[in-house]
Amino acid sequence: MAENKNSTDKIPNWKRDFPVDQEEATHVSRREFAKFLGLLSGALALGNGAIVVKSMAFPHKALEGEHFVCNVADLAPGEMHQFEIEGSKSIPYILIHLPEGGWRAFEQKCTHLACAVRYRADIDRIECPCHRGYFDARTGVVIEGPPPRPLPQLEAVDKNGKIYVRAMSEPLNV
Ligand code: FES
Repeated sequence: MAENKNSTDKIPNWKRDFPVDQEEATHVSRREFAKFLGLLSGALALGNGAIVVKSMAFPHKALEGEHFVCNVADLAPGEMHQFEIEGSKSIPYILIHLPEGGWRAFEQKCTHLACAVRYRADIDRIECPCHRGYFDARTGVVIEGPPPRPLPQLEAVDKNGKIYVRAMSEPLNV
């Protein structure tokens, strides 16, 4: 009798108030885990389906008109400038002043998982730092890494020392 009293004395008050079996509470059965994985896969499939439906229902609208980006004097050869166009749903773009002269403009979102790409003058390529994807700085074509498609490109034109961009009349990167 004295032993019983001693063993109940050792149990803290909070445990007596909340008698939860720790092991049982944290145990996840194989069936529960499989159910969780099934639900997760279903949710991912639904999410992907929604993205596909959305992209089919609202296709990417081509840019309309010409948009001023910067003055030629603002960007030395080998430099890059990040910009957005008003009304383009805040799509970020990059403008590159090629080392040999000439201008290129691309969407800044990597075609792999949408990380921001940047022009690297030291290797004369556009780099996606997330998974080391590389694109050609003149055409946007994938040179290396996981990106599945070229970078969408705009046409960059020099008009009296001012750089404008507009939708490509003929894609350079297909
Ligand atoms: S997000 Fe660009 S390579 Fe993966």
